[in-house]
Amino acid sequence: MTTASFRPRRSVLYMPGGNARALEKAKTLPADAVILDLEDSVAPDVKGEARATACAAIAAGGYGRREVVLRVNGLDSAWGKADMAAALAARPDAILVPKVSTAADVARAASLAHGIPLWVMIETPLSILNAREIAAAAPSSNLTCFVLGTNDLVKDTRMRAGSARLALVPALSQAVLAARAFALDCIDGVYNDFRDETGFAAECEQGVLLGMDGKTLIHPSQVDACNRIFSPSDAEIAAARKVIAAFALPENAAKGVITVDGRMVERLHLAMAERVDAVARVIEQGAVPQ
Ligand code: COA
Ligand code: MG
Repeated sequence: MTTASFRPRRSVLYMPGGNARALEKAKTLPADAVILDLEDSVAPDVKGEARATACAAIAAGGYGRREVVLRVNGLDSAWGKADMAAALAARPDAILVPKVSTAADVARAASLAHGIPLWVMIETPLSILNAREIAAAAPSSNLTCFVLGTNDLVKDTRMRAGSARLALVPALSQAVLAARAFALDCIDGVYNDFRDETGFAAECEQGVLLGMDGKTLIHPSQVDACNRIFSPSDAEIAAARKVIAAFALPENAAKGVITVDGRMVERLHLAMAERVDAVARVIEQGAVPQ
């Protein structure tokens, strides 16, 4: 992987599309991406107003390096088509489509997005069962990202999130596997209790273990911890650079396996180390928005 091909999506902050104060504040927060929401956080009576406010903010810009994503209403809802039309004019970096359950849903969204990259919510029970076919639709639809909608998954499955999201883990892993199989990014669901810093940090750590690229957030107070936990640690970076240096030695040029600090290291570990190094360089070079 090269640094050019990596885009950090550690912290992805939602805000209600009609909340002008939040849209303004987002320009000052170190989130890698922001999602201006027209769906669940906007009441039915003010959908049109929120659409106008969010799209005006996107068109006006000012978000620096932050990726700006518009979450539209479901394409079967009363507002979905108008949201897509407004997105075409405002040109966000991506459109996030909720309640996707099949590859056909992705194709339909792509036909309305006219080349704007798509992100999809993985939040219905069917989307988990069909995660593979949804991800496989990526090349033909400009789909780049899965976003877990854990609140909707809990609602529709009647699972209890409970301790360490025990019941949800198989679904989360299914989404990560499908995403990886088709070279998509996968962003974890939100942590609702935004005053609970300890619980939030634990859930970020769990997301890292599950292979998530980052986490969706609901409050500015969650951004810093999320960025830190989803970045390679200093120890990981140092270990990765040691592996790269070891394989660069002339005596190891023709070797497939060597020993570094008493551990077996193969060339697949070199590839992993190179990715950590590339990610660290992007972050060090200031991909973190100011
Ligand atoms: N994005 C950007 N700014 C935000 C924000 C967000 N998600 N949430 C809060 N802020 C801002 C507030 O506007 C306020 O700014 P100010 O200091 O300029 O006044 C500041 O951060 C502190 O906010 P606070 O008073 O602690 O929170 P609140 O009570 O105003 O709002 C929520 C709490 C949960 C309603 C709000 O955080 C929110 O709407 N989150 C996003 C919900 C969402 O988009 N859900 C959809 C996906 S699950
Ligand atoms: Mg949802």
